[in-house]
Amino acid sequence: MDRLTLRRPDDWHLHLRDGALLAAVAPVSARHFARAIVMPNLVPPVVSGAEAAAYRERIRAALPGRRFTPLMTLYLTETTDPDDVIAAHASGLVTAVKLYPAGATTNSASGVRDLDRVRGVLEAMAEAGVPLCVHGEVTDPSVDIFDREAVFIDRVLDPLRRAVPGLRVVMEHITTAEAAGYVTTAGANLAATITVHHLVINRTHMLAGGIRPHYYCLPVAKRETHRRALVAAATGGDARFFLGTDSAPHTDAAKESACGCAGCFTAPVALSILAHVFEAADALDRLEGFASLHGPAFYGLPRNDETLTLAKSPAPLPHPGSLATGAGPVTVFDPGFPLHWHVAEDT
Ligand code: NCD
Ligand code: ZN
Repeated sequence: MDRLTLRRPDDWHLHLRDGALLAAVAPVSARHFARAIVMPNLVPPVVSGAEAAAYRERIRAALPGRRFTPLMTLYLTETTDPDDVIAAHASGLVTAVKLYPAGATTNSASGVRDLDRVRGVLEAMAEAGVPLCVHGEVTDPSVDIFDREAVFIDRVLDPLRRAVPGLRVVMEHITTAEAAGYVTTAGANLAATITVHHLVINRTHMLAGGIRPHYYCLPVAKRETHRRALVAAATGGDARFFLGTDSAPHTDAAKESACGCAGCFTAPVALSILAHVFEAADALDRLEGFASLHGPAFYGLPRNDETLTLAKSPAPLPHPGSLATGAGPVTVFDPGFPLHWHVAEDT
Protein backbone atom coordinates (compact mmCIF):
# COMPACT_ATOMS: atom_id res chain seq x y z
CA MET A 1 0.00 0.00 0.00
CA ASP A 2 1.42 3.41 -0.86
CA ARG A 3 -1.59 5.66 -0.26
CA LEU A 4 -3.83 5.90 2.75
CA THR A 5 -6.83 8.18 3.18
CA LEU A 6 -8.17 8.78 6.65
CA ARG A 7 -10.43 11.20 8.43
CA ARG A 8 -8.47 14.30 9.32
CA PRO A 9 -6.55 13.57 12.53
CA ASP A 10 -6.65 15.47 15.81
CA ASP A 11 -3.85 16.02 18.29
CA TRP A 12 -5.05 15.31 21.84
CA HIS A 13 -2.01 16.87 23.55
CA LEU A 14 -0.20 19.85 22.06
CA HIS A 15 1.92 22.78 23.24
CA LEU A 16 1.29 25.86 21.12
CA ARG A 17 3.17 28.30 23.41
CA ASP A 18 2.64 32.04 23.04
CA GLY A 19 4.07 35.06 21.25
CA ALA A 20 6.71 34.41 18.58
CA LEU A 21 6.70 30.63 19.08
CA LEU A 22 2.90 30.45 18.82
CA ALA A 23 3.01 32.42 15.57
CA ALA A 24 5.51 29.96 14.08
CA VAL A 25 4.22 26.61 15.36
CA ALA A 26 0.43 27.00 15.24
CA PRO A 27 0.30 26.93 11.40
CA VAL A 28 2.41 23.75 11.42
CA SER A 29 -0.14 21.82 13.48
CA ALA A 30 -3.09 23.42 11.67
CA ARG A 31 -1.72 22.11 8.37
CA HIS A 32 -2.43 18.47 9.28
CA PHE A 33 -4.68 18.42 12.32
CA ALA A 34 -8.29 19.55 12.62
CA ARG A 35 -8.31 20.06 16.39
CA ALA A 36 -5.90 19.92 19.27
CA ILE A 37 -6.11 19.80 23.03
CA VAL A 38 -3.98 22.83 23.86
CA MET A 39 -1.84 22.57 26.96
CA PRO A 40 -2.16 25.42 29.47
CA ASN A 41 1.45 25.48 30.80
CA LEU A 42 2.28 29.00 29.70
CA VAL A 43 4.16 31.38 31.98
CA PRO A 44 2.00 32.28 33.87
CA PRO A 45 -0.29 29.26 33.33
CA VAL A 46 -3.83 29.41 31.94
CA VAL A 47 -5.85 28.92 35.12
CA SER A 48 -9.18 30.67 34.60
CA GLY A 49 -11.90 30.65 31.99
CA ALA A 50 -11.09 34.28 31.18
CA GLU A 51 -7.43 33.42 30.57
CA ALA A 52 -8.40 30.46 28.37
CA ALA A 53 -10.68 32.73 26.31
CA ALA A 54 -7.87 35.26 25.84
CA TYR A 55 -5.37 32.52 24.90
CA ARG A 56 -7.84 31.06 22.39
CA GLU A 57 -8.09 34.47 20.75
CA ARG A 58 -4.29 34.67 20.46
CA ILE A 59 -4.24 31.21 18.87
CA ARG A 60 -6.97 32.16 16.40
CA ALA A 61 -5.08 35.36 15.57
CA ALA A 62 -2.03 33.23 14.71
CA LEU A 63 -4.13 31.20 12.27
CA PRO A 64 -5.97 33.66 10.01
CA GLY A 65 -8.29 31.82 7.64
CA ARG A 66 -7.30 28.35 8.93
CA ARG A 67 -9.91 25.75 9.86
CA PHE A 68 -8.38 24.60 13.09
CA THR A 69 -10.15 24.25 16.41
CA PRO A 70 -8.11 24.78 19.57
CA LEU A 71 -9.67 22.77 22.38
CA MET A 72 -8.71 24.71 25.48
CA THR A 73 -7.64 23.34 28.85
CA LEU A 74 -7.32 24.87 32.30
CA TYR A 75 -4.29 24.37 34.49
CA LEU A 76 -5.46 22.92 37.79
CA THR A 77 -4.12 24.66 40.89
CA GLU A 78 -4.94 24.27 44.55
CA THR A 79 -6.99 27.46 44.32
CA THR A 80 -8.95 26.58 41.17
CA ASP A 81 -12.61 27.63 41.51
CA PRO A 82 -14.92 24.70 40.64
CA ASP A 83 -17.67 27.07 39.46
CA ASP A 84 -15.30 28.74 36.98
CA VAL A 85 -14.27 25.33 35.57
CA ILE A 86 -17.82 24.10 35.22
CA ALA A 87 -19.01 27.35 33.60
CA ALA A 88 -16.06 27.40 31.17
CA HIS A 89 -16.81 23.81 30.17
CA ALA A 90 -20.57 24.33 29.91
CA SER A 91 -20.07 27.29 27.57
CA GLY A 92 -17.91 25.16 25.25
CA LEU A 93 -14.80 27.27 25.93
CA VAL A 94 -12.87 24.61 27.83
CA THR A 95 -12.67 20.93 26.93
CA ALA A 96 -10.61 19.52 29.80
CA VAL A 97 -8.58 20.33 32.90
CA LYS A 98 -4.90 19.51 33.22
CA LEU A 99 -3.28 18.15 36.37
CA TYR A 100 0.44 18.75 36.70
CA PRO A 101 1.99 17.49 39.90
CA ALA A 102 3.93 20.55 41.11
CA GLY A 103 7.43 20.53 39.66
CA ALA A 104 6.92 17.51 37.37
CA THR A 105 7.78 19.20 34.08
CA THR A 106 8.25 22.43 32.11
CA ASN A 107 6.33 25.33 33.75
CA SER A 108 4.62 23.20 36.39
CA ALA A 109 5.57 25.17 39.50
CA SER A 110 1.93 26.17 40.12
CA GLY A 111 0.75 22.56 39.92
CA VAL A 112 -0.90 20.49 42.61
CA ARG A 113 1.00 19.43 45.76
CA ASP A 114 -1.87 17.97 47.76
CA LEU A 115 -4.67 16.24 45.87
CA ASP A 116 -7.02 16.57 48.83
CA ARG A 117 -7.05 20.31 48.14
CA VAL A 118 -8.54 19.80 44.66
CA ARG A 119 -11.00 17.06 45.61
CA GLY A 120 -13.95 19.46 45.37
CA VAL A 121 -13.00 20.51 41.83
CA LEU A 122 -12.52 16.89 40.74
CA GLU A 123 -15.90 15.89 42.14
CA ALA A 124 -17.58 18.80 40.35
CA MET A 125 -15.81 17.76 37.13
CA ALA A 126 -16.94 14.15 37.51
CA GLU A 127 -20.50 15.35 37.99
CA ALA A 128 -20.38 17.61 34.93
CA GLY A 129 -18.41 15.17 32.74
CA VAL A 130 -15.28 17.33 32.40
CA PRO A 131 -12.26 15.12 31.61
CA LEU A 132 -9.03 15.42 33.61
CA CYS A 133 -5.76 15.19 31.65
CA VAL A 134 -2.98 13.96 33.88
CA HIS A 135 0.79 14.36 33.69
CA GLY A 136 1.51 11.02 35.30
CA GLU A 137 4.81 11.34 37.15
CA VAL A 138 5.54 11.62 40.85
CA THR A 139 7.89 14.43 41.81
CA ASP A 140 9.35 12.78 44.92
CA PRO A 141 13.10 13.39 44.52
CA SER A 142 13.85 9.99 46.03
CA VAL A 143 12.09 8.22 43.14
CA ASP A 144 14.34 7.52 40.16
CA ILE A 145 13.26 9.48 37.09
CA PHE A 146 12.80 6.29 35.07
CA ASP A 147 10.36 4.96 37.71
CA ARG A 148 8.27 8.08 38.20
CA GLU A 149 5.42 7.09 35.90
CA ALA A 150 4.98 3.57 37.26
CA VAL A 151 5.11 4.87 40.85
CA PHE A 152 2.57 7.57 39.99
CA ILE A 153 0.03 4.93 38.98
CA ASP A 154 0.24 3.19 42.35
CA ARG A 155 0.63 6.21 44.59
CA VAL A 156 -1.56 8.81 42.88
CA LEU A 157 -3.60 7.75 39.86
CA ASP A 158 -5.19 4.59 41.16
CA PRO A 159 -6.14 6.15 44.55
CA LEU A 160 -7.46 9.25 42.76
CA ARG A 161 -9.65 7.18 40.43
CA ARG A 162 -11.00 5.22 43.39
CA ALA A 163 -11.69 8.42 45.34
CA VAL A 164 -13.56 10.04 42.44
CA PRO A 165 -14.84 7.04 40.46
CA GLY A 166 -17.00 9.04 38.05
CA LEU A 167 -14.08 11.14 36.80
CA ARG A 168 -13.01 10.67 33.19
CA VAL A 169 -9.21 10.64 33.08
CA VAL A 170 -6.67 10.78 30.27
CA MET A 171 -3.23 9.60 31.25
CA GLU A 172 -1.10 11.80 29.04
CA HIS A 173 1.95 10.75 27.01
CA ILE A 174 2.39 7.31 28.55
CA THR A 175 5.90 5.87 28.34
CA THR A 176 5.81 2.52 30.12
CA ALA A 177 4.43 -0.99 29.81
CA GLU A 178 2.96 -0.46 33.29
CA ALA A 179 0.89 2.51 32.11
CA ALA A 180 -0.31 0.72 28.97
CA GLY A 181 -1.24 -2.31 31.08
CA TYR A 182 -3.04 -0.18 33.68
CA VAL A 183 -5.16 1.49 30.99
CA THR A 184 -6.01 -1.85 29.43
CA THR A 185 -7.30 -3.28 32.69
CA ALA A 186 -9.22 -0.13 33.71
CA GLY A 187 -12.78 0.74 32.76
CA ALA A 188 -13.99 2.97 29.95
CA ASN A 189 -13.47 6.19 31.93
CA LEU A 190 -9.68 5.94 31.59
CA ALA A 191 -7.79 6.53 28.34
CA ALA A 192 -4.21 7.39 27.41
CA THR A 193 -2.45 9.47 24.81
CA ILE A 194 0.75 8.26 23.20
CA THR A 195 3.28 10.53 21.49
CA VAL A 196 5.00 9.86 18.21
CA HIS A 197 8.49 10.16 19.64
CA HIS A 198 7.89 7.58 22.36
CA LEU A 199 6.93 5.12 19.62
CA VAL A 200 10.34 5.45 17.95
CA ILE A 201 12.99 6.27 20.54
CA ASN A 202 14.16 4.61 23.71
CA ARG A 203 16.58 5.96 26.31
CA THR A 204 19.57 4.43 24.56
CA HIS A 205 18.84 6.50 21.46
CA MET A 206 18.98 9.57 23.69
CA LEU A 207 22.10 8.72 25.66
CA ALA A 208 24.43 6.34 23.77
CA GLY A 209 27.19 7.76 21.60
CA GLY A 210 26.61 11.32 22.81
CA ILE A 211 23.71 13.02 24.53
CA ARG A 212 20.94 14.13 22.18
CA PRO A 213 19.08 17.04 23.73
CA HIS A 214 16.36 16.98 21.07
CA TYR A 215 15.35 13.52 22.32
CA TYR A 216 14.96 14.75 25.89
CA CYS A 217 11.35 15.13 26.98
CA LEU A 218 9.19 14.35 29.97
CA PRO A 219 8.23 11.75 30.78
CA VAL A 220 11.69 10.68 29.66
CA ALA A 221 11.95 7.85 27.10
CA LYS A 222 12.35 4.48 28.78
CA ARG A 223 14.05 1.22 27.75
CA GLU A 224 13.23 -0.67 24.54
CA THR A 225 10.75 -3.09 26.15
CA HIS A 226 8.57 -0.13 27.06
CA ARG A 227 8.77 1.38 23.58
CA ARG A 228 7.56 -1.94 22.19
CA ALA A 229 4.67 -2.03 24.66
CA LEU A 230 3.66 1.46 23.49
CA VAL A 231 3.77 0.40 19.83
CA ALA A 232 1.59 -2.61 20.69
CA ALA A 233 -0.88 -0.35 22.52
CA ALA A 234 -1.02 2.26 19.75
CA THR A 235 -1.33 -0.20 16.88
CA GLY A 236 -3.52 -2.77 18.66
CA GLY A 237 -6.86 -1.12 17.95
CA ASP A 238 -7.94 -0.56 21.57
CA ALA A 239 -10.00 2.66 21.52
CA ARG A 240 -8.61 3.79 24.88
CA PHE A 241 -5.30 4.71 23.21
CA PHE A 242 -5.07 7.72 20.92
CA LEU A 243 -2.61 10.23 19.51
CA GLY A 244 -1.36 13.14 21.57
CA THR A 245 1.88 14.32 20.01
CA ASP A 246 3.01 16.39 23.00
CA SER A 247 4.83 18.41 20.36
CA ALA A 248 6.65 20.80 22.71
CA PRO A 249 8.81 23.39 20.95
CA HIS A 250 11.71 25.06 22.71
CA THR A 251 14.34 27.17 20.98
CA ASP A 252 17.61 25.43 20.22
CA ALA A 253 19.29 27.78 22.68
CA ALA A 254 17.00 26.47 25.44
CA LYS A 255 17.48 22.81 24.44
CA GLU A 256 21.21 22.81 23.73
CA SER A 257 22.25 24.07 27.12
CA ALA A 258 23.91 22.91 30.34
CA CYS A 259 20.37 22.51 31.73
CA GLY A 260 18.30 21.87 28.63
CA CYS A 261 14.49 22.06 28.52
CA ALA A 262 12.33 18.96 28.12
CA GLY A 263 10.23 18.66 24.98
CA CYS A 264 10.40 17.31 21.43
CA PHE A 265 9.08 19.39 18.52
CA THR A 266 7.42 16.69 16.44
CA ALA A 267 4.44 18.44 14.82
CA PRO A 268 5.96 18.84 11.31
CA VAL A 269 6.83 15.12 11.01
CA ALA A 270 4.27 13.52 13.33
CA LEU A 271 2.08 11.91 10.67
CA SER A 272 5.06 10.77 8.57
CA ILE A 273 6.53 8.98 11.57
CA LEU A 274 3.19 7.58 12.62
CA ALA A 275 2.57 6.04 9.19
CA HIS A 276 6.07 4.53 9.31
CA VAL A 277 5.39 2.97 12.73
CA PHE A 278 1.98 1.60 11.78
CA GLU A 279 3.29 0.18 8.51
CA ALA A 280 6.20 -1.52 10.30
CA ALA A 281 3.65 -3.08 12.68
CA ASP A 282 1.51 -4.19 9.73
CA ALA A 283 -1.29 -2.05 11.13
CA LEU A 284 -1.83 0.77 8.63
CA ASP A 285 -5.53 -0.07 8.71
CA ARG A 286 -5.57 0.95 12.40
CA LEU A 287 -3.88 4.31 11.95
CA GLU A 288 -7.19 6.11 11.43
CA GLY A 289 -8.56 4.74 14.70
CA PHE A 290 -5.52 5.93 16.66
CA ALA A 291 -5.16 9.34 14.99
CA SER A 292 -8.73 10.27 14.07
CA LEU A 293 -11.43 8.17 15.76
CA HIS A 294 -10.57 7.09 19.31
CA GLY A 295 -9.92 10.60 20.60
CA PRO A 296 -13.26 12.15 19.62
CA ALA A 297 -15.04 9.04 20.90
CA PHE A 298 -13.49 9.45 24.36
CA TYR A 299 -14.05 13.21 24.49
CA GLY A 300 -17.62 12.86 23.19
CA LEU A 301 -16.93 15.08 20.17
CA PRO A 302 -17.95 14.51 16.55
CA ARG A 303 -15.56 12.89 14.10
CA ASN A 304 -14.00 15.18 11.52
CA ASP A 305 -15.67 15.08 8.11
CA GLU A 306 -12.60 16.16 6.15
CA THR A 307 -9.99 13.64 5.05
CA LEU A 308 -6.25 13.56 4.69
CA THR A 309 -4.25 11.33 2.35
CA LEU A 310 -0.83 9.98 3.21
CA ALA A 311 1.41 8.80 0.38
CA LYS A 312 4.60 6.78 0.40
CA SER A 313 7.34 7.88 -1.96
CA PRO A 314 10.17 5.56 -3.03
CA ALA A 315 12.83 8.15 -2.22
CA PRO A 316 13.18 9.34 1.37
CA LEU A 317 11.86 12.80 2.14
CA PRO A 318 14.29 15.53 3.05
CA HIS A 319 14.13 16.16 6.80
CA PRO A 320 12.91 19.70 7.56
CA GLY A 321 15.85 20.39 9.89
CA SER A 322 14.59 23.30 11.93
CA LEU A 323 11.78 25.83 11.96
CA ALA A 324 12.73 29.50 11.98
CA THR A 325 10.78 31.43 14.62
CA GLY A 326 10.89 34.96 15.95
CA ALA A 327 12.44 33.51 19.13
CA GLY A 328 15.18 31.59 17.26
CA PRO A 329 15.40 28.27 15.44
CA VAL A 330 13.54 25.22 16.77
CA THR A 331 14.95 21.85 15.72
CA VAL A 332 12.38 19.43 14.32
CA PHE A 333 12.45 15.95 15.84
CA ASP A 334 14.48 13.57 13.67
CA PRO A 335 13.63 9.90 14.25
CA GLY A 336 17.04 8.81 12.97
CA PHE A 337 15.69 6.80 10.04
CA PRO A 338 14.47 7.86 6.60
CA LEU A 339 10.83 8.86 6.25
CA HIS A 340 8.92 7.93 3.13
CA TRP A 341 5.35 8.76 4.12
CA HIS A 342 4.09 12.30 3.77
CA VAL A 343 0.81 14.16 3.68
CA ALA A 344 -0.15 14.23 0.01
CA GLU A 345 -3.47 16.06 0.15
CA ASP A 346 -6.20 17.07 2.46
CA THR A 347 -9.78 18.03 1.82
C1 NCD B 1 6.43 19.82 27.89
C2 NCD B 1 6.72 21.29 27.64
O1 NCD B 1 7.82 21.60 27.18
O2 NCD B 1 5.86 22.12 27.90
N1 NCD B 1 7.66 19.09 27.85
C3 NCD B 1 7.81 17.78 27.60
O3 NCD B 1 8.93 17.29 27.70
N2 NCD B 1 6.80 17.03 27.25
C4 NCD B 1 5.71 19.65 29.17
C5 NCD B 1 5.04 18.31 29.31
O4 NCD B 1 4.12 17.99 28.58
O5 NCD B 1 5.46 17.55 30.21
ZN1 ZN C 1 3.02 18.01 27.12
